[in-house]
Amino acid sequence: MELIEGIRTRRSVRRFTGEKVSRETIETIIDAARFAPTWKNSQTPGYVVVESRDIIEKIADEGVMGREHNAGIIKGAAALVVLTSVKGICGYEPDGSFTTSKGSEWQMFDAGIAAQTFCLAAHNYGVGSVIMGIFDEREVARIIGLDDSRAVSALIAIGYPAQEPNEPKRKDVEEYVSYI
Ligand SMILES: Cc1cc2nc3c(=O)[nH]c(=O)nc-3n(C[C@H](O)[C@H](O)[C@H](O)COP(=O)(O)O)c2cc1C
Repeated sequence: MELIEGIRTRRSVRRFTGEKVSRETIETIIDAARFAPTWKNSQTPGYVVVESRDIIEKIADEGVMGREHNAGIIKGAAALVVLTSVKGICGYEPDGSFTTSKGSEWQMFDAGIAAQTFCLAAHNYGVGSVIMGIFDEREVARIIGLDDSRAVSALIAIGYPAQEPNEPKRKDVEEYVSYI
């Protein structure tokens, strides 16, 4: 898929067919996503692919702050990708102090780039995805048994699309840009 076409046609997909996404396809997507840029090339994002229906149900029931909308998406997904980040690296100097006034925010910045790169690569291979920010970080970490050195940065539900979502209205270029 041509790059700009892929960027423009990726949509958040929230309804999926029951078809499984093979590990080979998931790893092909991650093979592309690992080229996402990161703070000093620290490559701190990680992808925990939850295939177990039991764990998926548990995250939907206990890990999304009671939000039925997200619980429904997760239960209908072929797999749930828990995007994780190694803590204490992005934004930090070797002595543990912050490099910039943004403190540790760069960790989420890297996770955001990784998430979008993952979703664009998934789109290229016909796999639908939606990034979800509404979840209970502590609960999700507990359910998946995440090591304390990593944070849960986002949830990404994936599967083959059972819908062709309309394109949400975007602001015009003039509203985004300013020159001085
Ligand atoms: C950081 C972030 C958090 C989001 N959280 C949720 C969420 O919790 N649930 C959901 O259904 N969609 C979520 N979305 C998807 C947005 O609603 C969606 O990207 C937006 O409406 C634009 O639609 P599009 O992705 O189809 O272009 C999130 C997107 C981002 C980038």
